[in-house]
Amino acid sequence: MNKPIIEIKNIKKKYNISHQRGGYVALRDVFTNILKNPFRFAKQKAKQVAGIGTKEEFWALNGVDIKINKGDIIGVIGHNGAGKSTLLKILTGITPPTEGEITMRGRIASLLEVGTGFHPELTGRENIFLNGAILGMTKKEIVRKFDKIVAFSGVEKFLDTPVKYYSSGMYVRLAFSVAAHMESDILLVDEVLAVGDADFQKKCLGKMEEVTQAEGRTILLVSHNMGAIQRLCKKTVLLNKGKVVFYGDTKEAIECYLDNEDAVSSNSKLFPAVAKDVIINDFSIHQDGTRTNYIDNDKPFEVTIDFETLRDLELFRVGFFVRNAIGDTLTRSLAADWNPNAENIKKGYHQARFVFPAKLLMPGDYFFVLHSSCYGVADYFGYNIHKVITVSRPTEYNMAHINEPPSSNPSMILLKDKWEIKNLNK
Ligand SMILES: Nc1ncnc2c1ncn2[C@@H]1O[C@H](COP(=O)(O)OP(=O)(O)OP(=O)(O)O)[C@@H](O)[C@H]1O
Ligand SMILES: [Mg+2]
Repeated sequence: MNKPIIEIKNIKKKYNISHQRGGYVALRDVFTNILKNPFRFAKQKAKQVAGIGTKEEFWALNGVDIKINKGDIIGVIGHNGAGKSTLLKILTGITPPTEGEITMRGRIASLLEVGTGFHPELTGRENIFLNGAILGMTKKEIVRKFDKIVAFSGVEKFLDTPVKYYSSGMYVRLAFSVAAHMESDILLVDEVLAVGDADFQKKCLGKMEEVTQAEGRTILLVSHNMGAIQRLCKKTVLLNKGKVVFYGDTKEAIECYLDNEDAVSSNSKLFPAVAKDVIINDFSIHQDGTRTNYIDNDKPFEVTIDFETLRDLELFRVGFFVRNAIGDTLTRSLAADWNPNAENIKKGYHQARFVFPAKLLMPGDYFFVLHSSCYGVADYFGYNIHKVITVSRPTEYNMAHINEPPSSNPSMILLKDKWEIKNLNK
C-alpha cells in the first residue's frame, strides 16, 4: 500500500485579531460621515474605541487531521469562516501553521482566492513563466506548455497586459489554466469556479476530471457550489469552526453541512467582509422581523444586504442568486433589475432589501448567495458569502405529495395556482 500523498497531522492556526477594522481614515471622511449619518458614526466610533488595545486570539484551524491518497479529488466544504482557505494556504506554504505537521509527497500547484499566486505588476505572459519556475519547471518545459495554457484561458489578447488590469474573470481563467497545465502532483483550488462564467466553469470541471483520471493528479477543491463538489469529488471534508466534523462520502458530507447551518451561522466572523471598493456589513434573512434560517412557507421573508461603498460606483450590482442543495441556480435577483438608476451608487452606507414572496419555493434547503460586482470590471465577493435556509411545507399542500422521496419530486418552484378537474362524462 502506497503512503498517502498528503498527511495533515493536528494542524492548528492561530490569528491575533484586533477589533478595529483598521485602514486609513481621512479626516474629511470622518466629518462627512458625522454629517451624513451621525448616529451610525457614533456607534462605529464607540466600537472602534472599545476595540483599541483589545486583541483576541482566534483559532482559524483547531486540530485538523486528514490523509489524502494519490489520484483522489477531495472536496472541502464548510460555512464562511470555517477555515477552508486557511487550510489551503497552509498546504501551499503561504502561511505557516501555528502547530502541527504536514507531509507532502509531491509537487503542488495552487489556485487560491483571487489575489494570490500571481504578481499584479507582471503581465500574463510573465506570470506564466514565474509560476512555472516556482514549480521547478525549466524554461523549455514551460515553453512547451505555453500555447495550451493560453488557448485554454482564452485571454490571448491580454497576455502582455499586467494582471492587475485584468477583470476577476480573466484573472481566474489564466490562473486556473496555469495551475491545471503545470506538471504538479497536487492541485489546490479555492473557490474559483464561482468567478468565471458558466461555460468556463464547465471547462474547469472537465479539466479537473481529466487531470485526475489521465494523469493521476490529486485535487483539493474548496467550493460553495455543491453541484460541482458532488460531481467531482467522491470524498469530502466538512470543516466547521476550524475542525473536521466529517470526512467521507460526499453526499453524506453535504447532508451534514446543511443540517449544521443553524449551529454555525451566528458564529461567523465574516462581517464586515471587505473587497476593494465595497464592504458588506451584513447579509441576512428575516421573517416576521426576526433573523432566521427557517422559513415559514406561508409568509413572505426578507433578504437584506447592508453594505458600504468606498467611492461612487457605476454599473454596480448587488443582490443574490438562489441555488438548491446540489448547486442548480433557480434565479438571480439584483437591485438594479427593474431600476437602471440603482446601478449608479454614491459612496457611503446602503441597505438593499428584497421581499421574497410566500409559497414560491418547494419545501427544502436553499442557498442564498450574495452577489456584488461592477459589470465587466470587478466581482467583489466571488460568490462565497451565502446563507442556507430551510423552507417549510405550506399548510394546505397535500401531505402525500410532499413526503415523496426527492427523486420522484425533484422540483424547486411551487406553483400556487390550483388545478381544476372537470368530469366530462355526461
Ligand atoms: N490574516 C488573518 N488574520 C486574522 N484572521 C483571519 C486571517 N485570515 C483568516 N482569518 C479568519 O480565520 C477564519 C477562517 O478563515 P478562512 O478564510 O479560512 O475561511 P473560509 O472557510 O475560507 O471561509 P469562506 O467560505 O468565507 O471563504 C475566519 O474567521 C477569518 O476571519
Ligand atoms: Mg475561503
